[in-house]
Amino acid sequence: MSVREIKKYPEKILRVKTERVKEFDAELEKLIIDLIETMYAAPGVGLAANQIGVSKQVAVIDVHTAEEKSSLIVLVNPEIVCMEGENSSEEGCLSIPDYTTIVKRAEKVRVKCQDRKGKPFEIEADGLLAKALQHEIDHLNGLFFIDRIGRIKREFFRKRYAREKALSNK
Ligand code: NI
Repeated sequence: MSVREIKKYPEKILRVKTERVKEFDAELEKLIIDLIETMYAAPGVGLAANQIGVSKQVAVIDVHTAEEKSSLIVLVNPEIVCMEGENSSEEGCLSIPDYTTIVKRAEKVRVKCQDRKGKPFEIEADGLLAKALQHEIDHLNGLFFIDRIGRIKREFFRKRYAREKALSNK
């Protein structure tokens, strides 16, 4: 069990659609524990398996507020089955450090998934949890939040990224 290195944009594994989990075994359990530890260590409110280099449909989310102790959710093979409304709010990502921007997403979602033992369940969410679910499920499909912003903003991000990369290579 360990805190793993978080893959960063533009690493290729983050652009590949992850594979469905078929075996609910000790290896999956270890992956889930590493995801949880890495998310809390970052700290972040969500983390997808491909962000630690494992191309499988597994993600963890914890969007608890200051009053709550934890609201950890483990998602295996999650799928959005229903989206409703519209909500724009600021997003960032552990794989794209030092960049946040406003992203337009659905206000409410219903997600069908399995727990760490393979038992199916559904989550209905709005607010911060709905945003986190959409963000992490995007990761599992090889997408970043920068794919959900307008072309001009994306160009701005790309230019800024190229400039920072050039500076850090000097
Ligand atoms: Ni992210």
